[in-house]
Amino acid sequence: MEIIIKKDALSGSYSAARVVARLIHEKPDAVLGLATGSTPLMLYKELIRLHNEEALDFSRVTTFNLDEYVGLPADHEQSYHRFMWDNLFSQINIKLENVHIPDGMASDIPAFCASYEQAIIDAGGIDLQVLGIGSDGHVGFNEPTSSFASRTRIKTLTRQTVADNARFFDGDESKVPHHCITMGIGTIMDARMNILLAFGQNKAGAVAATVEGPTASIMPASILQYHPAAKMFIDEAAASDLKLGDYYRWVYDNKPDWQKDA
Ligand code: PGA
Repeated sequence: MEIIIKKDALSGSYSAARVVARLIHEKPDAVLGLATGSTPLMLYKELIRLHNEEALDFSRVTTFNLDEYVGLPADHEQSYHRFMWDNLFSQINIKLENVHIPDGMASDIPAFCASYEQAIIDAGGIDLQVLGIGSDGHVGFNEPTSSFASRTRIKTLTRQTVADNARFFDGDESKVPHHCITMGIGTIMDARMNILLAFGQNKAGAVAATVEGPTASIMPASILQYHPAAKMFIDEAAASDLKLGDYYRWVYDNKPDWQKDA
């Protein structure tokens, strides 16, 4: 895992956006895995800027989102469908038919989940997956003790996640759905590259456990220690519990030119 510590969330997001943009330049029909939540917002703003000002072309890009709440229709203001259209898709030239987001209203959830996995395979697999991390170490909505072999399926949110996400539901935990559909950890590990973004002090414990703790399903993101191409873009606050923070900074500062931003 490559740990990239930036002074703040903005510069971390810009660096992550460069990795996404370079992939799209190199492979115009790239398959992206995308995330929701507060964390990727600045990344998406920068991708929109690159589209508007530097002609970053999404016309052949395909996307798969990590997760969606069960029971929220696509037009619900807190659905992840709505989030993605409001914060990214409506402002770039992506084709509607190339966008995939789990259907939280699916009547047959297991069948839907199997079809989502098949659609990822049919698209050639995910080239680059964007991840946030929960304060409990979840990726997607794979809560602690999720199987490392899991595929897209229904999950129950932890009380911690419900409490964390209540801020999007007028601070009212009773309005937060308790179930979601999420790509599994096995699905995420199949992506050819994973980039995880984490900003702020409340992510510091999960970041340190993910990078430097044992690999264990109690800390789902820790499986990324086994991923051959995982990068973590974090700010100083999220890096504050790392034991080897100085080493990661030293590694990054001394990269050979040909490896910079790689
Ligand atoms: P956040 O959520 O970006 O809103 O902090 C991250 C996550 O729960 O994965």
